[in-house]
Formats: sequence, structure tokens, C-alpha cells
Amino acid sequence: MHEEIHHPCVQHKLSLIRDINTGHKKFRELATEITMFVCYEALKEVRVEDVTVQTPVAEAKCRKIVEDIVVVPILRAGVGMLEGILDLVPTARVGFLGMYRDEVTAQPVAYYQKLPPQTATALNIIIDPMLATGGSTAAAIDVLKEAGAKKIVVVCIVTCPEGLQAVETAHPDVKIYTASIDDRLNENKYIVPGLGDAGDRLFGTR
Ligand code: PRP
Ligand code: URA
Repeated sequence: MHEEIHHPCVQHKLSLIRDINTGHKKFRELATEITMFVCYEALKEVRVEDVTVQTPVAEAKCRKIVEDIVVVPILRAGVGMLEGILDLVPTARVGFLGMYRDEVTAQPVAYYQKLPPQTATALNIIIDPMLATGGSTAAAIDVLKEAGAKKIVVVCIVTCPEGLQAVETAHPDVKIYTASIDDRLNENKYIVPGLGDAGDRLFGTR
């Protein structure tokens, strides 16, 4: 299951973040802003409870989020989405999964793991700007499920049909939210047209 966010503000920001002339400062700002739009959608099904609030005029029936939210960035590029989601849900707990894609095999290599304890009802939100072959995301979901996670969603910025199919086949219970489903992977397993190497563009490492 997946959902592509078609909002014009997201599409406008995608046109900027994809641009080869966008430097790392602006790239980081755009990653934060796009993350907020996509996460806003992903959070629409969180659990809320009814509360009554006293306004200066009268009592108002309101709702407050009661979901236990765990945000899990996949290092390193996922860190570029952390500020955006924490602006929306400042009380979320945060776990980190270190994973890089082997440059030859394109297979994910796990190198770090620090997750908060799972609760039976926690909603885990994996964040990573790029879901390409889907290997890193699927491996991250494996790790979370082994740690006891029951509810998992994925938020990315750009993906492609091959990656969606791979993750959805391995984990049909996990919904993926994205700002864009691009055309395809190229021979180097990069998303086309994509935005290049998200980690390098976020952190100015190339
Ligand atoms: C990128 C990206 C994803 C992964 C996507 O990370 O941030 O984690 O590749 O590719 P996949 O869907 O084919 O697994 P990268 O390996 O470049 O590491 P980095 O974030 O440390 O730069
Ligand atoms: N990782 C990236 O950063 N970009 C891609 O297009 C594929 C994997």
C-alpha cells in the first residue's frame, strides 16, 4: 500500500530539491519542508482522544493525539527528515538505524542500531528520503519487526515502482507515503529522474 502526495506545494518544492544547482543549505531546508507535508498526510490516522478545553468564551470539544510515536531515521540521509517530522510531533521518541548501500551490490549494510523500547501500540515511522531498490527500507522494517514493532509506516521523498514493489511484497502490512513515484531505476540503481545522492546533497559531502 502506498500514497503519493500530489499537493502543489509539494510539487513546487520537489522542482527545487531535484535541481542540480540547489546547494546543501537549501536542500536541507527543502527536505525539512517536504517531510512536513508528507508526514502531515502519514499522521492522519494517528489515535486521538476526546478532550474538553476551556476557551475564553466556552467549553470546546477537542481532540488530542495519544499515539505513542517512534520516528526511525535510516542513517545517514534519514537525519535530513528528522527536524521536519519532530516539528509536527515534538514528543515522538527517536530510534536510529545505520545502513548504507554497498556501491557494487546495492545491498544494504547495517552498521548501527539504537532503538527505544517498543510498546504494544507504538506507531513506528521510518524516514529516509530515497526508497530506490527498497533494500534499505525492507531491511529497516525487518529490524523493527524483530524488535517487536507492530505498526510501521514509511515516509520518503522520492521512490520508484521497483522499490515500492519490493517493499510491498516483503511487507504488505506497511504503508509507504512519498512525495513522488519517479519513473525507474538506472543501471546504478539510482532513481530516475530522482535527485541524485540524497546523503551527499544534504551534507555537502560530494
Ligand atoms: C541511500 C538512501 C537510502 C538508500 C536507498 O543511502 O538514503 O538509505 O540509499 O537505496 P535502496 O532503496 O536501494 O536501499 P546511502 O546508502 O547512500 O547511505 P547514506 O544515507 O549514508 O548516504
Ligand atoms: N540513494 C540515493 O541517495 N539516491 C538514489 O537515487 C538511490 C539511492
